[in-house]
Amino acid sequence: MNAAAPKTVYAVSLAAAIALTLGLVAFETAAQADAGIFDSSPFTTTDGRSIYEHICRGCHMADGGGAVGAGHYPALANNTTLKARDYMVITVLMGRRNMPAFGAKHAIGFGGPPLVLNDAQIAAVVNYVRSNFGNHYTDAISAEDVARLDPGSS
Ligand code: HEC
Repeated sequence: MNAAAPKTVYAVSLAAAIALTLGLVAFETAAQADAGIFDSSPFTTTDGRSIYEHICRGCHMADGGGAVGAGHYPALANNTTLKARDYMVITVLMGRRNMPAFGAKHAIGFGGPPLVLNDAQIAAVVNYVRSNFGNHYTDAISAEDVARLDPGSS
């Protein structure tokens, strides 16, 4: 009979521990699900502005003004080199010196899966940049044009 009391205490604390663990597991799962939704959004959207804001802004800045500091990130705003539409597409597809490649056949992961944009996404972000930030180029490009410019495609 004397042993009953400690057993009850043990059972209660065990139940509390299980409840706490379940709570923590549930919390962690929700956090991971949120992270997944956030991380995957740049890969599914074909909205040029959204792609720019998720990926390009980090280096070329919100106003397309570029940055000079630990590296040189050219301005995309009022950039006359973007007149050459194919030059911009090839830059995004294949990268250029310190500019990472985003084409599926060219992107390299840095300790993780590579950040890849499909042809429609590359067309969208190129069209967005070439018609915003003071750029007024009206010759929009299609996903098919991007595919044709990809040196890796057959
Ligand atoms: C990790 C930083 C980084 C990210 C992210 C990045 N860029 Fe760049 N980008 C660069 C650097 C650095 C250069 C300069 C490359 C060189 O040395 O010529 C560059 C150059 C360019 C150029 C050529 C500009 C010129 O005047 O020749 C274009 C166009 C460009 N980036 C577009 C984009 C777009 C669109 C995105 C998003 C899909 C993007 N970049 C994402 C770093 C980045």
